[in-house]
Amino acid sequence: MTLVVDHPLARARLTTVRDARTDRPTFRDAVRDLTTMLVYEALRDAPVTETPVTTPVADTVGAELTAPPVLVPVLRAGLGMATAAHAQVPGALMGFVGVARDEETLQPTPYMESLPGDLAGRPVFVLDPMLATGGSMAHTIDLLVARGADDVTAVCVVAAPEGIARLGEQHPDVRIVTATIDERLNESGYIVPGLGDAGDRQFGAM
Ligand code: URA
Repeated sequence: MTLVVDHPLARARLTTVRDARTDRPTFRDAVRDLTTMLVYEALRDAPVTETPVTTPVADTVGAELTAPPVLVPVLRAGLGMATAAHAQVPGALMGFVGVARDEETLQPTPYMESLPGDLAGRPVFVLDPMLATGGSMAHTIDLLVARGADDVTAVCVVAAPEGIARLGEQHPDVRIVTATIDERLNESGYIVPGLGDAGDRQFGAM
């Protein structure tokens, strides 16, 4: 299932990140705002547990997330989504996966993982702004499934049809939450129209 968060504010921030003239601080701020919106919508139907709360006036009943998602930013670009997602779910556990892309083969090259050992029965949100070929995302989800995860949401700013199709084939139960589904990938594996290299635009070209 793919959910496109087509909100006017999301479209405005998306325009900011698409614009090649946007400077790095402004780009990072827009990624942060988009993440807030995407995580908010991804949790819309999350189960809550009622909890008593005392206001200055009376006792009443509040709510808290029954199962806060484990947050997994995919380094490097997903790092820019981590703090905003964590602010939405302050009690969440956070794991990390590092995947670089080989610019010639476009294959994901994993270089680190730091994940809770047992993910069975726990929702997991993978944070990666660009779902392009789907290689990094599929690799990350493989790691999660190996730890028992069975409730995975891919939270992306921009998704390509190719990446969505790949996840549909390899991980049909994974939910995708994105601000847009773009047209296609180009021959270099960039999403068109996309926004360029999300890691470079947030943190600089290495
Ligand atoms: N990764 C990016 O940062 N941008 C793309 O367009 C595709 C993959």
